[in-house]
Amino acid sequence: AQINSRRCRSAAATALPRPGEARASTYKVSVLGAAGGIGQPLSLLLKMSPLISDLRLHDIANVKGVTADLSHCNTPAQVSGFMGPEELAEAVRDADLVVIPAGVPRKPGMTRDDLFNVNAGIVQSLVEAVAKHAPKALINVICNPVNSTVPIAAEVLKKQGVYDPARLFGVTTLDVVRSNTFVAEAKGLRLIDVDVPVVGGHAGGTILPLLSKTKPRVEFTAEEIESLTKRIQEAGTEVVQAKAGTGSATLSMAYAAARFAESCLRGLDGDTDVYECSYVQCDVTELPFFATRVKLGRKGVEAVVPIEGISEYEQRALEAMKPELKASIEKGAAFVNKEP
Ligand code: NAI
Repeated sequence: AQINSRRCRSAAATALPRPGEARASTYKVSVLGAAGGIGQPLSLLLKMSPLISDLRLHDIANVKGVTADLSHCNTPAQVSGFMGPEELAEAVRDADLVVIPAGVPRKPGMTRDDLFNVNAGIVQSLVEAVAKHAPKALINVICNPVNSTVPIAAEVLKKQGVYDPARLFGVTTLDVVRSNTFVAEAKGLRLIDVDVPVVGGHAGGTILPLLSKTKPRVEFTAEEIESLTKRIQEAGTEVVQAKAGTGSATLSMAYAAARFAESCLRGLDGDTDVYECSYVQCDVTELPFFATRVKLGRKGVEAVVPIEGISEYEQRALEAMKPELKASIEKGAAFVNKEP
């Protein structure tokens, strides 16, 4: 399978309303954590999607106001709001896609792993509800640390007997979006032309942009590779520091998550040429989970693009990240399987 950047661009563009859009809006999408920094702009972008007929917003606070507000937009998706654990089952029942931006964000000085203690339990309880009430849904996990929260979700789904690896995704699209932006800026390219695959995981050194696979083909000096890779890996921290204690990336994340959700829906809808990078269960390395390019289809992941022909620098970085990623995966699985 070949990487198709044109498709990725059109995925981003479909987050905007398209007058005269012929495609019927038929999908049920639930956003858990919909009143948060990511959840609100993400819900707005999803409300503009021509593919969504039923948009359910769930949170433990402030969700009724967000729902009332969004419901006044004259786009087809019907919006409904669900508050707290009592209404979680109804929020996810029979959804086609569940997006999970619930969870606490980083403050300056924190790593994503520092969020584990709070967010692990949130993801566990939300995915339990999805397993019971929407066992066929695609799940997009945004909540950090993604390197561990996706294995947590997998273990929860296994316990409920409904785990299908093709339907579970860690959302790493923001790493691709950032890479495309930074490379276009550095090389004076048109933003719309640039596509950089990002593999590995979603934390510091586990984020590995494959600059050697940039489309269109560009040459980078060793210094450029070093500085661009570092900037992409630390881009989340750049935002955390600029926000000075008020949170982490929300607007760019909402944009990226809307693009990824739209790609999932286009796959469900039968588009035959939809590719995105995502952190999924796969065998591109010996680790059980790894972010790589996947082909999206009617049942979620339809094919995994192997990581081949990368540079020596990338090969070294890929090997170097493995111990950290392995530890994060095991930490997630152990959280769910711990003795009571
Ligand atoms: P936020 O604090 O602004 O919003 C989180 C929302 O989740 C709040 O409205 C809160 O009430 C809600 N929430 C908490 N527990 C809940 C539960 N049990 N059920 C339903 N809702 C619940 O945080 P923000 O900035 O929106 O970030 C959310 C998560 O996304 C964080 O974990 C952050 O680290 C992560 N993130 C992931 C990125 C990625 O690339 N995957 C990028 C940026 C942030």
